Amino acid sequence: AGSGMRALRGPAATLVDNPFEQPSRACLVTHEDALVVIEDGIIRAFGPYAELKDAVPAGAEVHHYPDHLLVPGFIDAHVHFPQLQMIGAYGAQLLEWLDTYTFPAEMSFADAGHAARVARLFLRELLRAGTTTAMVYCTVHPHSVDAFFAESERFNTRMIAGKVLMDRNAPAALLDTAQRGYDESVALIERWHGRGRQLYCVTPRFAPTSTEAQLDAAGALLKTRDGLFLQTHLCENPGEVAWVRELFPARASYLDVYAHAGLVGPRSMFGHAVHMHEGDFCTCHQSGAGLAHCPTSNLFLGSGLFRLFDAVDPRRPVRVGLGTDVGGGTSLSQLQSLNEAYKVAALTGHKLDAVQGFYLATLGGARALGLEGTLGRLAPGHEADICVLDPQATPLMAFRAGYCASIEELLFMLMTLGDDRAVRATYAAGACVYDRARPGDPFLP
Ligand code: GUN
Ligand code: ZN
Repeated sequence: AGSGMRALRGPAATLVDNPFEQPSRACLVTHEDALVVIEDGIIRAFGPYAELKDAVPAGAEVHHYPDHLLVPGFIDAHVHFPQLQMIGAYGAQLLEWLDTYTFPAEMSFADAGHAARVARLFLRELLRAGTTTAMVYCTVHPHSVDAFFAESERFNTRMIAGKVLMDRNAPAALLDTAQRGYDESVALIERWHGRGRQLYCVTPRFAPTSTEAQLDAAGALLKTRDGLFLQTHLCENPGEVAWVRELFPARASYLDVYAHAGLVGPRSMFGHAVHMHEGDFCTCHQSGAGLAHCPTSNLFLGSGLFRLFDAVDPRRPVRVGLGTDVGGGTSLSQLQSLNEAYKVAALTGHKLDAVQGFYLATLGGARALGLEGTLGRLAPGHEADICVLDPQATPLMAFRAGYCASIEELLFMLMTLGDDRAVRATYAAGACVYDRARPGDPFLP
C-alpha cells in the first residue's frame, strides 16, 4: 500500500462500452455498494465493497456516500469560459449574437484582472456541476489562457484549452494576425502543454474569422508538438454555413475548409455540426475527428437539431461528445445538456436512453477527445475524476426516486430533473475539489 491511498464508497455506475453500437444493458456496470480505490490520483481498483474492502490499508480515508451515486466526472467537449457574463442573452441567432453580445464580452478580457476573476468563477462553477474535464475556448488574449490554466492547475483538473485565433471579421481589438497568433500559440504551448494535467488546444474560432493563411498556420501549429488538440465551430447555423460558402468558394464543403488546412484528425473537436452532409460524417469517421453535440445552445440560438443517431451510425460511426457551449448554451450542467439532448433526439424521431446519455457525458466524451484509457470510466488505471450524484437533491427528486425501479430509471430521472443541485461532491485526481456540504469554502489542494 503506497502513500496517498484512499477510497470512495457508495452505489456506483460506469460505462464500459458504446451503447450506440451495443445493447445499452451490456454497456453499463453498476454496483449497489462499490469501492473505488485510489492511489496517487489514479483508480487502482473498482468493484463491490465486499470484495475490495481488504484492498484498503487500515487508516486510509474512506469517503462513504450511501444513497448517492458515484459516476465518472463529466466531460464538457465544448465551452467558452469568457462568455459567463453574457450567458442567456436575449433574442439573436448566431451571427448577430456574436456581434451584439459575444465580441463585446470577450473585449473585456483585455484586462488580465478580469480574465483571472472569471477563470476563478468558471472553474468553481464547472466543479459545482460535476464537470472535471472541459475543452475550453479562451479569448484572443494570451493572458486569458494563462488565467484559465493557472486556475485549473490549482485544482489539478485535466483541462484542454487554447487561445482563440481570429484575424478578420471581428472587432479590431479582438484580432491577431496569422503570424502573431502562431507565435503567441507557440509560447502558450511551451508554457502549458503537458504541464501537470493541462493540455493545449489550437483554437481558430471558426472559418469566417480566419483567413486561409491563419487556418494554414493553425495546421502548422498542430505539428509543433505531440498530443495537441484542435477545436473550432462547424455547420452551426444556416446563415453561417452560407457565409462560409461565399468566403471559401473553392472548397467542397465547410468541413473541407478545415480539412484543406490540415485541421481534421484525431483530437480535432468540431462544435455543433448541425447542418452536415453525409460526406462530412464520412470525413469525420475516416479521420477520427470528434463532434460536440451542444443541445442547450442549438435550441437557445435557434441553430437547429443535431442528428446524433445519424452521426453515430454504426456503418461509419463518428465520435461524439457532449458540449454545453456556454454562453450560447444555457447551463454548465451536463445533466441539463442531457435533458435537452433527449428532447432533440425526440424531435428527430429517436430515443436517447440514460445509458447513451451518460456515455456521451463520460466515456464517449473521453473517446471523442482521444483520452480513452485515461478519463471517462471508473476502472483501474484511469484518473480518479469522480462525480458524486445525489438522486434526492430536491423534494421532488427524492419523491420521484422512490418510484425508480432500477439504476437506469434513476439515471434517467437524474438526466431529466438533475442539475448542479444534484452534485453532492466532485473529486479531481482523487482529491475532493467541491463539496456541497461546505458551500463557499471550496477545497484547495
Ligand atoms: N461560432 C463562432 N464563435 C462562436 C461562439 O462563440 N459560440 C457559438 N455558439 N458559435 C460560435
Ligand atoms: Zn461554441
